[in-house]
Amino acid sequence: MTVLLVFGLFVVIATAHNITLLDVPQFGDPRRDVRLVCHYVSETGDPPLHSVKWYRDNNEIFRFTPGQQPPTRAFNTTTGAVGRGSCNVHSCAINVVLPKVYNTRISFTCEVSTEGPRFAVVNQTKYLTVAVTLKDGPKISTSSSGAVQVGEEVILNCSTKPSLPPPTLQWFIDETPETVDPWIMDNTEFSAPDNDGLRSSSKALRVRVDTMKPSIALRCVATQPTTPNFMTSSEVSLQVVRSPHLSMFTAAGSSSKIEAVSIAVVSCISVHMFSKYSALSEV
Ligand SMILES: *[C@@H]1O[C@H](CO)[C@@H](O)[C@H](O)[C@H]1NC(C)=O
Ligand SMILES: *[C@@H]1O[C@H](CO)[C@@H](O)[C@H](O)[C@H]1NC(C)=O
Ligand SMILES: *[C@@H]1O[C@H](CO)[C@@H](O)[C@H](O)[C@H]1NC(C)=O
Ligand SMILES: *[C@@H]1O[C@H](CO)[C@@H](O)[C@H](O)[C@H]1NC(C)=O
Repeated sequence: MTVLLVFGLFVVIATAHNITLLDVPQFGDPRRDVRLVCHYVSETGDPPLHSVKWYRDNNEIFRFTPGQQPPTRAFNTTTGAVGRGSCNVHSCAINVVLPKVYNTRISFTCEVSTEGPRFAVVNQTKYLTVAVTLKDGPKISTSSSGAVQVGEEVILNCSTKPSLPPPTLQWFIDETPETVDPWIMDNTEFSAPDNDGLRSSSKALRVRVDTMKPSIALRCVATQPTTPNFMTSSEVSLQVVRSPHLSMFTAAGSSSKIEAVSIAVVSCISVHMFSKYSALSEV
């Protein structure tokens, strides 16, 4: 029994095309078409390619059959149209219109079948979430010139470009989350939606400098409530000045002199995603 099963599996693998890469972005902006590409290979001696089919949530949306006229056919579904495909014996690319329903998770499957006698079929699936994700980390602006004194109060503002769904923001002071009143779940502010429904997020932070450390690291983390969550963050560091001479300089400095000191603001931006990406891509 086991031997038969293993033998059967071997025959299928040995005569099928292999999907080498299924290019489906994890997030798709519904304001433009999304391009999906499926790459496949066959071994020398394998029967030729019979067809490549694209499925969206298990509904066939596109078919490439090189032996037929016309070789490509698109099937529009109620959830979105499919543009012209560009396919050959190595890859098949299609453009898909996404629904303007944010946070919808859509599965796309590429299925490649080989000519007879066995018509071996292989497929691969990946998921796309409809969202406008942030391309950059949030912007941090500060009331301070960058060099602060012990006892001074600094106001920072973290804000993001328009996105959908808009992120909630969280501040970290030297890697410790900002303490907020327990009854306030989240006090991120959102702008009014633009024409496409996108909103900006912002959140201010008031810090009193009471540290003896030479600097304070302030990080703002933006989390878009997508499936999976999409996170970006930015960080600034405030240099704590203890020299009386420098303090006077900072206190006295207005306009142009502050410009010179503001070079002390060290900013670094990192964009990363927390996701079960590898788990999702293996179906
Ligand atoms: C397809 O994948 C199987 C299993 O990973 C491998 O044994 C086979 O050599 C591959 N065939 C091609 C054409 O790459
Ligand atoms: C992909 O292949 C699996 C098993 O080989 C099958 O159960 C599934 O229905 C296929 N998916 C599609 C969309 O054809
Ligand atoms: C699918 O929809 C697109 C855009 O609405 C249209 O241009 C195309 O002709 C349709 N294709 C089919 C096969 O209905
Ligand atoms: C923070 O910046 C945003 C975007 O520039 C602005 O809309 C918001 O009013 C600012 N918040 C504060 C408290 O300054």
